[in-house]
Amino acid sequence: MSQQSQPPQRPTPGRISKAVIPAAGLGTRFLPATKATPKEMLPVVDKPAIQYVVEEAVAAGLTDVLMVTGRNKRPLEDHFDRNYELEEALSRKGDASRLARVRESSDLATMHYVRQGDPRGLGHAVLCAQPHIGDQPFAVLLGDDLIDPRDPLLTRMTTVQHHHGGSVIALMEVDPAHIHLYGSAAIQPTDEPDVVRVTGLVEKPEPGQAPSHYAVIGRYVLDPAVFTVLAHTPPGRGNEIQLTDALKTLATPDHPGGPVHGVVFTGRRYDTGDRADYLRAIVRLACERDDLGPDFRTWLKAYVNGEMDQ
Ligand code: G1P
Repeated sequence: MSQQSQPPQRPTPGRISKAVIPAAGLGTRFLPATKATPKEMLPVVDKPAIQYVVEEAVAAGLTDVLMVTGRNKRPLEDHFDRNYELEEALSRKGDASRLARVRESSDLATMHYVRQGDPRGLGHAVLCAQPHIGDQPFAVLLGDDLIDPRDPLLTRMTTVQHHHGGSVIALMEVDPAHIHLYGSAAIQPTDEPDVVRVTGLVEKPEPGQAPSHYAVIGRYVLDPAVFTVLAHTPPGRGNEIQLTDALKTLATPDHPGGPVHGVVFTGRRYDTGDRADYLRAIVRLACERDDLGPDFRTWLKAYVNGEMDQ
């Protein structure tokens, strides 16, 4: 008897095409560096952190990117736009490789911007995207979380959303001592080892109140029903409108926009919103780069071993 194999499950480029990147935060943890520069523009090796996030969206097939910004965020718009003066100067010098690097960020995606106005929380930032998104599933990527490009989390999430419908969030098992820094999910297993059903959520739980040590990390694929829910979600933790609270509503049985599934991520994630993790991200990514890595690793080993005079 011949056995017919199942066709492979494919991500659905074209079906989910829009990404929202909230980028209105003040970046107070990095002051004074962020006094006049958006935190999203801080370099990770030689690219601003935000460019990695846009590249991740594009790699998952999302080429329409809406940034939700605020005051003092103009450098973000400039970074993803052409800089003719600089391009002209590099052309005149015949510096083709730097010219290509400069053009990379403006050729990546179709960029759109909307201002959040009042900083009323992540849920409110997502709600600001409603007129641009309309009535289709979309992704949200938080700029403080960098996901290593070798671990394609968002592509997996769009595949899971295509399969199950509803909404999909990214989860990561964290040290129980750190769960109070995140949204925490109550979960049930499914037939797929990396997918769970989300039955409840608590934003930044008090000690002893976390339903699990599965933390929400900053990637979401959301059904547009989330907008209606957000519009009716009262301020929660920190007196802000929390995306986690809206997702908790979506996760209630038979709610439009549900069910909510979680993809459990076991790959490499860097929290560039935290100074120590930001430094780790730079060191790790620099060590792994073909151009900088070999020399930098040699130096780093010597430094760590105390073999440096200065
Ligand atoms: C936000 C979310 C939180 C999530 C976290 C991931 O919090 O509200 O649920 O766990 O991102 O980075 P923030 O870190 O922006 O306070």
